[in-house]
Amino acid sequence: MCGIIGIASNKKVSTNIVNALKKLEYRGYDSAGLATITNGEINEKKCSGRVEKLEKILFQSPNEGNLGIGHVRWATHGVPNEVNAHPHSSEIVSVVHNGIIENSDKLKKEFEKSGTTFKSQTDTEVITVLLTEKLKKLDPLKAVFETIDMLKGSFALGIIFKNHKEFVIGARRGSPLAVGYSNNENYLGSDSYALKSMTNKISYLDDGDVCVLSKDEVKFYNHNKDKINKEIFTLSEDKASVSKGNYKNFMIKEIFEQPVTVKTCLKEYIDKIREEINFYNLPLDPKEINKIVLIGCGTAYHSCLVAKYWFEEFTSINIEVDIASEFRYRKVRFDKKALYIFVSQSGETADTYAALDLCKRQNVKTCSVINVVESSIARNSNCVLPIHAGPEIGVASTKAFLGQMLVLYLLSLKISEVRNDMQNIEYKKKISELKKLPTLISEALKEEEKIQLIAKDICESKGSMFLGRGSSFPIALEGALKLKELSYLHAEGYPAGEMKHGPLALIEDGLPVVVIAPKDKYFEKTLSNMQEVIARGGKVLLLTNSDGKVISENIRFQINLPDSDLTLTPFIFTIPLQLLSYHVALFKKCDIDKPRNLAKSVTVE
Ligand code: M6R
Repeated sequence: MCGIIGIASNKKVSTNIVNALKKLEYRGYDSAGLATITNGEINEKKCSGRVEKLEKILFQSPNEGNLGIGHVRWATHGVPNEVNAHPHSSEIVSVVHNGIIENSDKLKKEFEKSGTTFKSQTDTEVITVLLTEKLKKLDPLKAVFETIDMLKGSFALGIIFKNHKEFVIGARRGSPLAVGYSNNENYLGSDSYALKSMTNKISYLDDGDVCVLSKDEVKFYNHNKDKINKEIFTLSEDKASVSKGNYKNFMIKEIFEQPVTVKTCLKEYIDKIREEINFYNLPLDPKEINKIVLIGCGTAYHSCLVAKYWFEEFTSINIEVDIASEFRYRKVRFDKKALYIFVSQSGETADTYAALDLCKRQNVKTCSVINVVESSIARNSNCVLPIHAGPEIGVASTKAFLGQMLVLYLLSLKISEVRNDMQNIEYKKKISELKKLPTLISEALKEEEKIQLIAKDICESKGSMFLGRGSSFPIALEGALKLKELSYLHAEGYPAGEMKHGPLALIEDGLPVVVIAPKDKYFEKTLSNMQEVIARGGKVLLLTNSDGKVISENIRFQINLPDSDLTLTPFIFTIPLQLLSYHVALFKKCDIDKPRNLAKSVTVE
């Protein structure tokens, strides 16, 4: 994954590099580093741990220089320590890299045969060694082109040269890279978000592009080494703030923001006067669609799984759901009358992007459900449906999940109405029920105190299970994912009806089991499965909306959530699960916004 930054300026750059790295920490936070050209030498500072630590090092010993590169790391090759942190420098060149060099072992072995020793365990250092060799005979631009020709895998690179203190070179294949423009200063960054506090004028490199960035100009070259021009985009203003306000951390702020983000999203898509859902730019006429394929990773994949139930309920279209990392390698039969929908908060997830790219090359119609509208996935799909959730900073996705589900819900309703799969009266009723959602979510958030007690009760457990049927099954998967990523407590999500086929063996005295049982058509059946768990000693937390009545004396905890249209329960039942994982993690003193081993944007395979 990792985040990279490069700045060429007429003033010192290290403070701006550090500030941009703080913004990029969502891409990786296990080590940080920068290099500038100071008094004609490459001056590298790096450490394991967060950017804050790097900042302290720089406070003790500041880096001068008007040109530099910086990096935050999410380790792929080699443990996160100071030696493996980027930049990787030789006497004459310094490199930061996001991506994976798949032939690094082979290249390393060849160099080792001729006596080169490598300092780090990283794949990146081979780029430094290759460049150092090439620079003996070639100018920097040619050396970069020849080097990247030898690399297999993915990369976004920022490179500075001891003997050329006037420019940074950037190169991209597979991993995203943006360029920003300002007066007497130009920038290179893994994304526009990192550059936003410095400029709103941005261009994006395409695969194979190389750029040479000096303080006064940026030159671009394509993979054929031809000089090219790039479109300059003006970034939109962020309406939502990216500060924690009075909250302890971003995650809890983002959980409590959900009534507002849902309201904003509804406003964007529902025409108030005509009570109509607006989707103007779908790449296929809904009447012509014969299949919808929903693709995503992690939490985004769970939103696709929930949406499958809605599309099947409301429309007559065949629905498939796929995990992006599987889809991209399967022998898929592409269908010109199918709509391929890619769901991603960041819009930069490598697997999702690769799956989209595959569809693009097959010339089938694509659509993306995205939070970051300037992202690679948004820019490369035929149609973009933003979720309007505002920046999501916590690594654990919360408000984006609700936003993704909401846009998919609206889309399923709209497609159903256009195809006459749903009667207009029912369609209008669903829209009016949807408008209650912000209030229903606020009601569900009121359960926080009770959930704190439950979290205290289960935080020392060695495992847990989450069960549901119908659309509550993917919500169980999402609840389990949230708990494991935040609190490192093992959690399994399962369809309640599958328990008897194996997982029931896991139930033992005191094992926490969260049962998600809204009063839908599955209710009785889910309760029977719950009783089977109770009979084997499971400690049940029941989430239902049974008007406050205790359903069984053997339930350890019960939370009654507000009633709603039954197709809306996934939104409401997600809230206590988010709060539960948050409070368990808080009791366990885990790093809430930056769980171990993870990153917000997953830009490696
Ligand atoms: O940015 P994306 O939505 O494409 O990210 C996909 C997953 O990496 C992401 O949802 C991940 O599972 C979250 N950390 C879960 O909270």
